[in-house]
Amino acid sequence: MSTDQTPFKQQAAEHAVLTFVRSGMVVGLGTGSTSLFAIRKLGARIQAGSLQDVVGIPSSSESAELARQAGIPLATLENHPQIDLTIDGADEMDPALNLIKGGGGALLREKMLIQASQQFVVIADASKQSSALGSHWPIPLEVIPFGWTSQVHFLEGLGGQPQQRMGADGTPYRTDQGNYILDCAFGPLEDPAKLARLLEARAGIVEHGLFLGLATCAIVAGPAGVQQIDPLRR
Ligand code: A5P
Repeated sequence: MSTDQTPFKQQAAEHAVLTFVRSGMVVGLGTGSTSLFAIRKLGARIQAGSLQDVVGIPSSSESAELARQAGIPLATLENHPQIDLTIDGADEMDPALNLIKGGGGALLREKMLIQASQQFVVIADASKQSSALGSHWPIPLEVIPFGWTSQVHFLEGLGGQPQQRMGADGTPYRTDQGNYILDCAFGPLEDPAKLARLLEARAGIVEHGLFLGLATCAIVAGPAGVQQIDPLRR
């Protein structure tokens, strides 16, 4: 039975903003329905004066618009190539805090912000937790439109089942870079790092939604409350 996860998304997001954001920080702003609450909370703290000299770097045109509405001063990765902290959601998260991201289509810019960040705090409701990545979600892949059907054959050869993502208007979904998204189901992954390497070696696949070893910690909210999870280091 599925329950509405919205209150848990809000709790996780607000807890992260209250716990981790300090005055003077450059903050990477995630994309999606959980990040929405982080952006609003960050804006509310800036407007209330409890945070000063904070700038936000949005990971999508969508999060840029939300940040403007919330009153967060915006900056760019070009002008701030080192980010203090990125707060962002996830589609699926394993016990080591490896993630599938990209359900909102912003995976390329999200990964760029996260790799430029000193800390990356994942915010999620408890339904995102999974024992093996791929159990609940396909892996989003950003591909350039040129020759994109050749990627379908490549992915099928890896054992995946790719589907082109479509927009609400029935035309192919386009990322902020103008690329397509293929959502590729692989089932539970035994070796996500191996799959990531294969995807990274393929020309025309611009980015994949496996975010491995990048999270500093996760804030997860559910019926049992809000908890911080630290990655299991092997
Ligand atoms: C956006 O491209 C994604 O990576 C999101 O962070 C992810 O899909 C989680 O989205 P929700 O917070 O809406 O569940």
